[in-house]
Amino acid sequence: MDLRIKTFEEYKEKYALSVAQPEQFWGEIADTFQWNKPYDKVCEWEFDSPDIKWFANGKLNITENCLDRHLERRGNKLALIWEPNDTKERFVRWTYKELYERVCEFANALKAQGIAKGDRVIIYMPMIPEATVAMLACARIGAIHSVVFAGFSATAIADRINDAQAKAVITADGLNRGAKQVPLKRVVDEALQHCTSIETVIVFNCVDWSPNMVDGRDIWWHDAVKGMDKHCPAEQMDSEDMLFILYTSGSTGKPKGVVHTCGGYMVYAAYSFQNVFQYQESDIYWCTADVGWITGHTYIVYGPLLSGATTMMFEGVPTYPDAGRFWQVCDKHGVNIFYTAPTAIRALMAYGDDHVLSYSLDSLRVLGTVGEPINEEAWRWYHLHVGKGKCPIVDTWWQTETGGIMISGLGDLSPQRPAHAGYPLPGVQPVLLDQEGKEILENGVEGYLCIKHPWPSILRTTYGDHERCKITYFSHYKNHYFTGDGAKRDENGMYRIIGRVDDVINVSGHRFGTAEIENAINENKHVIESAVVGYPHDIKGQGIYAYVVCETMPEDQNEARAEIIETVVEQIGKIAKPEKIQFVSGLPKTRSGKIMRRILRKVAEGEADKLGDVSTLLDPDVVDEIVKGAL
Ligand code: PRX
Repeated sequence: MDLRIKTFEEYKEKYALSVAQPEQFWGEIADTFQWNKPYDKVCEWEFDSPDIKWFANGKLNITENCLDRHLERRGNKLALIWEPNDTKERFVRWTYKELYERVCEFANALKAQGIAKGDRVIIYMPMIPEATVAMLACARIGAIHSVVFAGFSATAIADRINDAQAKAVITADGLNRGAKQVPLKRVVDEALQHCTSIETVIVFNCVDWSPNMVDGRDIWWHDAVKGMDKHCPAEQMDSEDMLFILYTSGSTGKPKGVVHTCGGYMVYAAYSFQNVFQYQESDIYWCTADVGWITGHTYIVYGPLLSGATTMMFEGVPTYPDAGRFWQVCDKHGVNIFYTAPTAIRALMAYGDDHVLSYSLDSLRVLGTVGEPINEEAWRWYHLHVGKGKCPIVDTWWQTETGGIMISGLGDLSPQRPAHAGYPLPGVQPVLLDQEGKEILENGVEGYLCIKHPWPSILRTTYGDHERCKITYFSHYKNHYFTGDGAKRDENGMYRIIGRVDDVINVSGHRFGTAEIENAINENKHVIESAVVGYPHDIKGQGIYAYVVCETMPEDQNEARAEIIETVVEQIGKIAKPEKIQFVSGLPKTRSGKIMRRILRKVAEGEADKLGDVSTLLDPDVVDEIVKGAL
């Protein structure tokens, strides 16, 4: 089960093998898992449709690989440590045996509620161990989970429930977040006014509130598990059966449901986890992401548990009760591998060095970052103050759609260069394409980042709309998966991700489509139209800058801004709040009516002197007004 490459020389050999003989390479890795019926073929694919199959006709259950197969050797090993928001509350430590029993018990509860293989279940939970239990219990019985980040609004949940035609919601009365509590069940109730497919809502008691419980629909978690058996046979899944749907934003329309399937996702999650973090059996591993994002799926839950690791979940925020919380928790639990986002590092940097310098952090061995490019200053601070100059930093590039880390250092094996994700994992074949879609072969170049061969955890479809998957990822460049990112490759072949080349903004590592935010803003009754762009933000990486056209120019702009923000919070959630809202009398459009975002981006970036050619605009005067009113 040890999937680790152990030297950089071995990395090079494995990489070469993975390109020359992908089936042999992946077959050897896949054979270390528990298959209840062997697969017929490692990989069959064509990117046109797309139609991608890994480990076809193999039968498995990912939870048998996460739990059952560890029981003999690791039954008493810690599977999960949970650190609560409140420093005075007791933390939780569950062994593999305990986690197995809780998952089985809850899986039986789901079955008793009439939930079965293939049903879609929405999980809208705090960062508590029961969120992990809920995901695994769904997987145990073959139900397809779709975790919705607990910061999303009722409208956003309703959209996802309706798109997935989900049958059940698993939630909690509320959640703790720093000094605040958030009423989750109330948000679910509001969402459900717009949904007809939900038959059951299971509510975990997290904050001791008394939410409204609808008779015949809502049931407390503790009542649902009463008397349930602590063993539950695992549903036998086909490799290509859906494991989960995770909604993510793109450049057009509403968020789409990225679909991952059982066999390939399992293999890649464990393989990438062990290699990138150079995981060792006794490690305490902590990923600070939320389970509502892909990072939480692959690197809090599935990757570590498949590997028999001890994974830690944290309920709180990095700045509560103070900006030393991450480091206090690292020392408290003896964390060896720590994986977080550049935004968190930049935010903590801003609080000064004292918060980190008062902790020893001597248990740390490997540090990681994910979600957005890390700037050199933040990289150096992380390396010096958190890693004390001795821990490698793996800058992991990947996406919801890739399911797992694609380009990254491998612990201390690979050469490091600040702000560079580095080399692809064996099995991953990135290429840079030029404007015409021609592959750029040299080094020291920049281009559109694509992947030319599938890897086991590539998305298979977008839920309910295969055509959208094809158009978004497989139609830009024939026979290539298009990432939506631009990248540089340095003289040594190391990749540096520059950022999105489509209309996607990455705020604190969270993805939003500009169209999605514009649609939300346009819901405000005073708004005629809007255009949203990203701009560089010191902490968040990118901030949201909205240009808004109202029926009449608002007299009290601050009030109008607050109202628009409220609309966005209702439609999407607080995480999508525009940082800057500029009221304008019109938007710069071409004669064919297309908004020239290039101009709006330059103004938002404070580079109004570099607007370039504006002669094709319908009304060039509008640009002067926008430049003058820039925030
Ligand atoms: O633009 C890239 C950026 O995040 C996007 C994927 O977002 P999401 O699906 O939400 O997944 C985030 C966590 C995997 C990518 O298209 N991104 C992710 N990791 C990095 C990154 N940009 C630069 N460096 C990274 N390490």
